[in-house]
Amino acid sequence: MLEDRPRRRAPRSTASPTAPPPGHDDLVARIQAYPRRRTYLLPALIDVQHELRWLPPWAVEAIGLHLRVPRSEVYGVASSFPDLRLREPPSSVVRICQGASCRQLGAQQVAADAVAADCLFICGVGPAAEMDGTLRAARRPPLPPLPADTLIQDGACTRAVAQIPAAAQRVGCAGNCWQAPAWSDDGGATWQSADGQRWQAPGELRLLRNVGRIDPLAGAPTAYSALEKARSMGGDAVWQVVKDSGLRGRGGAYFPVGAKWETARNTPSAQKYLLVNAEEGEPGIYKDRHLLEGDPHRFLEGIFIAALAIGATDVVVFVNGEAHLARERLLSALERARRLGIEQVPIEVRLGAGGYVLGEETALINAIHGLRAEPLARPPFPAVSGLYGCPTVINNVESLANLPDIVLNGAEWFRALGTAENPGTKLVCLAGAVRRPGLYEVPLGTPLRAIVDECGGGAAGAIGSILVGGPSGSILPPSLLDTALDVQPLQAVGGILGAGGIVPLTEDQCPVAAVRELTAYNKRESCGKCTPCREGTVRMLDMLADLRTTNMDTLNDLNDVLAFGSLCGLGQMAPNPVRALVRHFPEEVAEHARGGCRAGACTWP
Ligand SMILES: Cc1cc2nc3c(=O)[nH]c(=O)nc-3n(C[C@H](O)[C@H](O)[C@H](O)COP(=O)(O)O)c2cc1C
Ligand code: SF4
Repeated sequence: MLEDRPRRRAPRSTASPTAPPPGHDDLVARIQAYPRRRTYLLPALIDVQHELRWLPPWAVEAIGLHLRVPRSEVYGVASSFPDLRLREPPSSVVRICQGASCRQLGAQQVAADAVAADCLFICGVGPAAEMDGTLRAARRPPLPPLPADTLIQDGACTRAVAQIPAAAQRVGCAGNCWQAPAWSDDGGATWQSADGQRWQAPGELRLLRNVGRIDPLAGAPTAYSALEKARSMGGDAVWQVVKDSGLRGRGGAYFPVGAKWETARNTPSAQKYLLVNAEEGEPGIYKDRHLLEGDPHRFLEGIFIAALAIGATDVVVFVNGEAHLARERLLSALERARRLGIEQVPIEVRLGAGGYVLGEETALINAIHGLRAEPLARPPFPAVSGLYGCPTVINNVESLANLPDIVLNGAEWFRALGTAENPGTKLVCLAGAVRRPGLYEVPLGTPLRAIVDECGGGAAGAIGSILVGGPSGSILPPSLLDTALDVQPLQAVGGILGAGGIVPLTEDQCPVAAVRELTAYNKRESCGKCTPCREGTVRMLDMLADLRTTNMDTLNDLNDVLAFGSLCGLGQMAPNPVRALVRHFPEEVAEHARGGCRAGACTWP
């Protein structure tokens, strides 16, 4: 029945959604303390979110007004970073890792109110979750009472599984994430865990030599001796030895480091930048965090050596926003280096706010310029015109961590390990169906089988497939386990080495489902700037969702369109896992085309 009483309008709120509500004076003052330059847009957004857990409209307005950026553009930038929230989140947020290795370990059975996370980067102790910002994995047997001088492993993985005594001699994790929490009573050579297992890092260590042996904040006793030598050699000689060493960039593209430096060195400019890529947002990759957590001074020494050789006047280190411990230790080490008068060029540390594409070098530059995290067309290459229009060398953390040893020991020493084309060692993030998931250092060219057996302690179950190179990489059958870990051998079987992620899957894991997950990830992470990738990844996922209705010629054509037509590596390499699936798993593909799935992972309406 209709009511006949006159209706009263609800009183309208007088508070404007764009005016700061009372009680936020400090935060507004903090926003207004940023210099009025657009480059501070991302730092200001991160600052506000850190305080309020999200970005209310009034804060977006206040930041835009202060930095003189239109509100629509502030919104546009904020919405390009997956970790920035434009809606208020629930009071408690639980995120469950959906990375390939956590799924392999059963992480897909998530609680109804939990949110899926692409990767939480503690694969070695997975399945992992994050509860209100704190990383968690299944609790492990606690540490027994230990003498005061015992070294105790303390990295992001360990903190997720155990409590570490406040008075302990904390060192970075030696790569033995599987063993966490572990201790050493022989200076970090042998590690023990409460279940009685003893372990020593396999092989010859270079980058990880001091990790797990030294106080990360104090550094090794020899820290900065290479820098001293580099200064006495001069920039030209340092550049020459790095060029002769054949070091290639470890961020995934393997471009010769010396050649990139040469371009920046030869580009005249009063100001030159070294931009360090510590974004590391690729699922399954945690090597750079590990280096920053375990030996940040080696990394800083690498920065100073590179800056000397390039002639850099400024350094920006861009760290993944979720790598809290890595950032904390880097800042403490930097503080110490400053106190000791070692900082020869100013280093600014910037934080990211999520997204795989943010690690792409031109997206990184855009983010620092206060723009959306979207890649740029090249040329110009950053080494000619990058940050603020100046010549900019972009190098990965692991690339730079190699420099102190190269300067101290020379190019021939460096070339003694690895292959002629790709000398040196590589950090690999090994997770999934192995007994000892963790971080390992192996000479480039080491067969995948040796990595699984000698580093990983063997497979945990019968291996049915192996993911190499993350979402831009490939899926290989066990018959290719003798493939060498290097750029060309992996290319020859349709893969890439990428940043060094290796995830063996057991026979009961469906390879089609695994590739579908990688494609779904690429689709989610596509920044949408160019059509082949934005639309192509959607179509690709549709086709993989139901192979019964998929025309394989059309799928192959689509792969070509993405590979040739996409602006950046994300779209160009999104076809890699799909092509590898079609090439190496024809029986499984045919079975799915008939509507079957022997693993029972794929269902259709
Ligand atoms: C989608 C995408 C994501 C990337 N993510 C990273 C990253 O997280 N860290 C990194 O160092 N390089 C990443 N790269 C590679 C960088 O663009 C660049 O090649 C690298 O930082 C250069 O340093 P390097 O020569 O020392 O390897 C990514 C590339 C693409 C296409
Ligand atoms: S390829 Fe994809 S991620 Fe790269 S610019 Fe194009 S849409 Fe963005």
